Amino acid sequence: MKILVMSPKGGVGKTKISLGLASVAHKRGKSVLAIDFDDQNSLDTTLRGIDDIDNAAGHPRELMDAIEQTGDDHDVVIFDVRPGSEYTKEYLQAAKHVDFTVVPIQHDGEAILSAEYMVDQFLDEGVQNFGVVMNSVLPNEKHLSKVREKMADLSGPELQWPMLDSILQFRTVWGHITFARDRSKTLIHHHKDGKAKAEIEALYDEIVSKIGGGSR
Ligand SMILES: Nc1ncnc2c1ncn2[C@@H]1O[C@H](COP(=O)(O)OP(=O)(O)OP(=O)(O)O)[C@@H](O)[C@H]1O
Ligand SMILES: [Mg+2]
Repeated sequence: MKILVMSPKGGVGKTKISLGLASVAHKRGKSVLAIDFDDQNSLDTTLRGIDDIDNAAGHPRELMDAIEQTGDDHDVVIFDVRPGSEYTKEYLQAAKHVDFTVVPIQHDGEAILSAEYMVDQFLDEGVQNFGVVMNSVLPNEKHLSKVREKMADLSGPELQWPMLDSILQFRTVWGHITFARDRSKTLIHHHKDGKAKAEIEALYDEIVSKIGGGSR
C-alpha cells in the first residue's frame, strides 16, 4: 500500500501525518518504509536510527522511480513531499500511481485557496484516490462546527472536493508519538493520551477502507 502525503501549502502537517500513519501501520504489524522527498529532511531525520520503520530520502524528481521501485519489501510505503507548486507535475503523476494521496489542509482561507489549484487539477486529471483532511482544528466546539460547515461546503455539489471524514485536531500531544530506544532495538509507541492516537488511527483506517481493505 503506497500513500502519498502532499499539499501545495507548507506547514500544514504533511510530515506529522506521514509519521503518524507510519506509526499506526507499524503498530498494526505492517512493515513500513517512509521516504522523505523534502530537502529539509525532517521526516528522514526523525526516523534515522529508528529500526522499526525503514526510511530513505530523495529528490521530488525521483518520486516516480521510488513509487515504481518500492513496495515489494514493505507492506506500507509512505511518501512525504515538500510543499509548493514547483513539482506539481511530479505530484500529479505520483498521485496517479500510488494507492492513495492525502492532502492535509487547515481551516484558513489561504490554505484552502492554495489547495484549490491542486485539488482542481487532481479532479480534472481524473485522480480519484485522494482525500483532503482538515488538520490542526482547534479543539473547541465552536471551531469544530465551523470546520464541519466548511467541509460540507467543500464536498458539496458545487466544489465536490473529496473530503475525508477524519478530522485531526490541534494536539500538542502529537509530539508524544515518540520513539524510544531499548539498547539493541528501537520501539515506537504512542503517548498514553488516546485522543491524538485515536484520530490518526481513524485516518489510517479511513484511507485503508478507501483503498478497498488493502492489507498489502
Ligand atoms: N494536529 C496538529 N497538532 C499540533 N501540532 C501540529 C499538528 N499538525 C502539525 N503540527 C505542527 O505544525 C508544524 C508543521 O507541521 P509539519 O512539519 O508536519 O508540516 P509540513 O506540511 O510537513 O511542513 P512543510 O511544508 O514545511 O514540510 C510542526 O511543528 C508540527 O508539529
Ligand atoms: Mg514536511
